[in-house]
Amino acid sequence: MYSRYGGPEVLELADVPLPEPRDREALVRVHAASINAADRVLMRGKPFLVRLGMGFPRPRHHTLGFDVAGRVDAIGRAVTQFRVGDDVFGASKFGGFAEFVCVDEQTLVPKPPGISFETAAATPTAGYTALQGLRKGRIAAGQKVLIDGASGGVGTFAVQIARAYGADVTAVCSTRNVDTARALGASRVIDYRHEDFASDGQRYDLILAANAYRPLSDYRRALKPGGAYVMTGGGGLQILQAMLLGAVLSVTSSRRMGNLLAIARKEDLVVLKELLETGKIRPVIDRTVALSDVPAAIRYMEEEHARGKVVVRVLPSEVTGERANGA
Ligand SMILES: NC(=O)c1ccc[n+]([C@@H]2O[C@H](COP(=O)([O-])OP(=O)(O)OC[C@H]3O[C@@H](n4cnc5c(N)ncnc54)[C@H](OP(=O)(O)O)[C@@H]3O)[C@@H](O)[C@H]2O)c1
Repeated sequence: MYSRYGGPEVLELADVPLPEPRDREALVRVHAASINAADRVLMRGKPFLVRLGMGFPRPRHHTLGFDVAGRVDAIGRAVTQFRVGDDVFGASKFGGFAEFVCVDEQTLVPKPPGISFETAAATPTAGYTALQGLRKGRIAAGQKVLIDGASGGVGTFAVQIARAYGADVTAVCSTRNVDTARALGASRVIDYRHEDFASDGQRYDLILAANAYRPLSDYRRALKPGGAYVMTGGGGLQILQAMLLGAVLSVTSSRRMGNLLAIARKEDLVVLKELLETGKIRPVIDRTVALSDVPAAIRYMEEEHARGKVVVRVLPSEVTGERANGA
């Protein structure tokens, strides 16, 4: 829980009444959750504009956490897609870092039996952001696709989903993540500490910047005519450049450039579920922490070098009866 904006020290464990599902919500007993960059944004209330939507001067919602996987414990009167006892995963609006959370049935999907709660919880937000970003860039089989920030939450999904589309993927990450990027399906990996994708003469049909730290002109230079640049996150300057300059460049040249505001949609969660079931994606999990360690884990994620996702194990696997292999 938190009742004021600030660093991870504002978060504390607390006992609260069991939430009650609204008409179209399921009450989910959370087995696992995962942390996203948005959690730290809401925790800190920065950039300041966030407070206009999330509460000023104090946060209106008191529990962070979007991505969850767990078991339906109760349902609202109008829920048609789930029953008590179903194993599910998806994206809550708030409140996932808790033992119970209410989630709209439109942002929940069944958890495949062979997929662990941790795997499922690691997938929603980073997965649909990668999927929507690639689709916004009109990904197609045979394209040359560059993923910048390929070793983080969004990037590790983007590499795999681009491969699943049949694209030829180049991943950009730091030295220690090169092998992982290759294992995820990248045919070429650029270690940004030693090489520069913007000046090696290669051109791409699509560039997805999961985390953009280069000027917009660098990304533009690396695009083929008719190519697309989509940014999901990065530095403040890069976001402004992509929004303002990107809109102008998209009109005045053959290259499309802009950012993405990802939205939790049922149909995309279903696609992710199928990709998980068929083994075409598997989340990279940096570490799994207990609910009481969420503040430290958010602090770790704020360094922006997590390798894939950080998962929160809320209900121990001994309690849920999961086998050792996580299935
Ligand atoms: N648009 C939306 O709706 C939406 C939705 C979800 C997320 N996001 C945003 O997307 C961004 C990525 O999210 P995420 O979960 O993937 O974050 P993350 O896991 O923290 O991303 C870390 C990635 O950034 C790379 N990185 C860090 N510093 C870098 C630098 N100076 N130069 C190049 N790469 C650097 C890291 O590479 P190494 O560790 O290998 O250095 C790693 O690949 C965040 O800004 C988040 O807010 C946006």
